[in-house]
Amino acid sequence: MHKKMLNGLSPAQFLRRHWQKKPLLARAGLPEFADLLNRKRLIELALLPEAESRLITRKGRQWTVHHGPFRRQDFAKLPDRDWTLLVQGVDLLLPRARELLGRFDFIPYARLDDLMVSYAPQGGGVGPHFDSYDVFLLQGEGRRRWQISSQRDLTLVDGAPLKILRDFKPAREWTLDAGDLLYLPPRYAHDGVALSDCITLSVGFRAPSAQDLCARFLDFMQDNLDASGLYADPGLKPTRQPARIAPQMAKGLLKMLAQARSSRSDMLRFIGEDLSTPKSQVVFEPPRRAMTLPAFSKAIRQRGLQLSAASILLYDDKALYMNGERCELPAAARPLLRRFADHRMLTPASAIPTAATEVFYDWYRAGFVTPSSD
Ligand code: SIN
Ligand code: CO
Repeated sequence: MHKKMLNGLSPAQFLRRHWQKKPLLARAGLPEFADLLNRKRLIELALLPEAESRLITRKGRQWTVHHGPFRRQDFAKLPDRDWTLLVQGVDLLLPRARELLGRFDFIPYARLDDLMVSYAPQGGGVGPHFDSYDVFLLQGEGRRRWQISSQRDLTLVDGAPLKILRDFKPAREWTLDAGDLLYLPPRYAHDGVALSDCITLSVGFRAPSAQDLCARFLDFMQDNLDASGLYADPGLKPTRQPARIAPQMAKGLLKMLAQARSSRSDMLRFIGEDLSTPKSQVVFEPPRRAMTLPAFSKAIRQRGLQLSAASILLYDDKALYMNGERCELPAAARPLLRRFADHRMLTPASAIPTAATEVFYDWYRAGFVTPSSD
């Protein structure tokens, strides 16, 4: 199933030869998603208050960026060429976009970021740049010329409102048609220019930086800190150096500070919670009139269950992590919940242990999961 989108390679071959290493072009790699959006539908998405969108226009080497949400009239006065509209997080707005991300499930969900979709008339693009993360660029409607380069010099133009390479030296060039798929590793220079009305779908990945990960871990530590005791010195002797932090005092304080240490299991808990935390703008909508537990139980046995588009459900050897929270699970429920996490859905008539139904019901009332539609 994955071979066509990986130009005949198996996922294992692709990961070994290309992932984080070198580009791969798969002609007609994913034609079934090429019609996911068109100009009109993308503009509709850019009008939504919850959409994260940008409008980029170019006059020669001068770039301008406007951030959404936009009004319909913002698109009425645009020129015939040299602009592009980009909408981030389309997987949260469109169920079929979530399906497209599902095609990349040979890569851990924790590495997946989102689907960005762009529209550009002829000449439109975001200029020569590099991205910090891996990306698959799927050509939707129209055609786009991609130029790429493995150049080391990634210096950016000073003061530009977006990341533009100062000295882009293209080494290879392709024109992509609808359904063609181009993989680029992180920090690979590229420039895509629309040759005609053009939709590009970018499946983007993410990777935490050590600095951010450690900073978030320190926050986690603080939130979970439970240190006890108050510094005490009942044996204090008179001093002639009252400014001195004497070894005895330092010893007592060091002992207290030792409580700020973290165990491996604290760190693993943090990793699970951190990787499963949705983006800050995500809001879950609980059902307006929630079913009772027996009705819910019947519904999921008959119709199956699915994760809400924005939910991130991960697991490790010890626990499950749903949208940033660790879940303690009875052993009987674990295999089913892991299967649910991997497939993001349960088929109807799965045998569901009571303990699992109760967990699902809590998630349903929080808006994290929904019974599948008939
Ligand atoms: C685009 O869709 O125009 C930009 C995609 C990219 O270069 O990352
Ligand atoms: Co890019």
